[in-house]
Amino acid sequence: MNTHHNTHGYIGHERASGFDIAMAQLLELDAEVLAPYLAELTGWLADLTHPAPARILDLGSGPGTGSLALAHRFGSAQVTAVDISPQMLHRLHKQAAAQGDTGRISTLEANLDEPWAEIGEGGPYDLIWAAAFLHHVADPARTLAQAFEHVRPGGLLAVTEMDFFPGFLPEDIGIGRPGLEARLHAATNTQPPHEWTGELTDAGFTLEERRPFDIRLDRAQAGPDLNDYAQTCLAKLLSHATDALDADDLDALDALLDETQPHSIARRDDLTVRTTRTTWIARGPGASAAPVRPRRPPHRRSL
Ligand SMILES: C[S@@+](CC[C@H](N)C(=O)[O-])C[C@H]1O[C@@H](n2cnc3c(N)ncnc32)[C@H](O)[C@@H]1O
Repeated sequence: MNTHHNTHGYIGHERASGFDIAMAQLLELDAEVLAPYLAELTGWLADLTHPAPARILDLGSGPGTGSLALAHRFGSAQVTAVDISPQMLHRLHKQAAAQGDTGRISTLEANLDEPWAEIGEGGPYDLIWAAAFLHHVADPARTLAQAFEHVRPGGLLAVTEMDFFPGFLPEDIGIGRPGLEARLHAATNTQPPHEWTGELTDAGFTLEERRPFDIRLDRAQAGPDLNDYAQTCLAKLLSHATDALDADDLDALDALLDETQPHSIARRDDLTVRTTRTTWIARGPGASAAPVRPRRPPHRRSL
């Protein structure tokens, strides 16, 4: 596995940011628990891409759960993961090494709000993937225009967004007033879901599909990380809601997050996962089915 930096950052813990590390942990738990959804999503992409993509670009890869899932799904593809955060890319290196996936994933530390000079070196790309990323950039229209330039003729862009934060709890959790989680979500999910259809077509893409995924997982499907994931999500939501909830709800949330309490989220066996995600599949310029050769050989520096 290789890495390349085009900023003056450095990989590892030197510039460790607590926010990035906490976010990386949340994203990794998300991918573990929602593995059935991720498998369905990449399987759907496999159905839509003939021949299978040889070069994949993961925009705002974070800790690389998407890069890894795509590398598994497309067994001979080269995946380039780009992120502004060295901590995120460090996590990706660790995960890739743990899974024995060190050969086919490259990382590039770059600010995607800036010109994509070095990103172009590995392209054009057969598949560009942007999960929970587009709403982070300064100018999504510009980012999509750059993606359009870097996807091969007939290649695909897959944009995914989490519409709302997941829910886990039953209506009555045994403490406080029923409906606590709904009130927490109402206080924090104040924005409408992202909608990229217009921006995609404005950038030149042809929209192939816009697919909402309505995800409902029981305990068995979600697996052993469910409680950790629910606790991490709840703590994150609470950090945004302390001014918006009544005192009794804040007390109930404190009890839920206190692992010593019998009703705590860490100990519950009545959790499920309920969330919705939307994916847009958009086709790049022209309709050529055959991947073209890279314009220049990729320039990557080994770790
Ligand atoms: C919510 S995370 C999503 C990560 C990953 N795609 C996933 O689905 O797990 C958004 C990521 O975008 C990265 N990011 C935000 N702005 C960026 C920028 N201007 N250039 C590159 N990466 C950026 C962040 O560092 C973070 O890792």
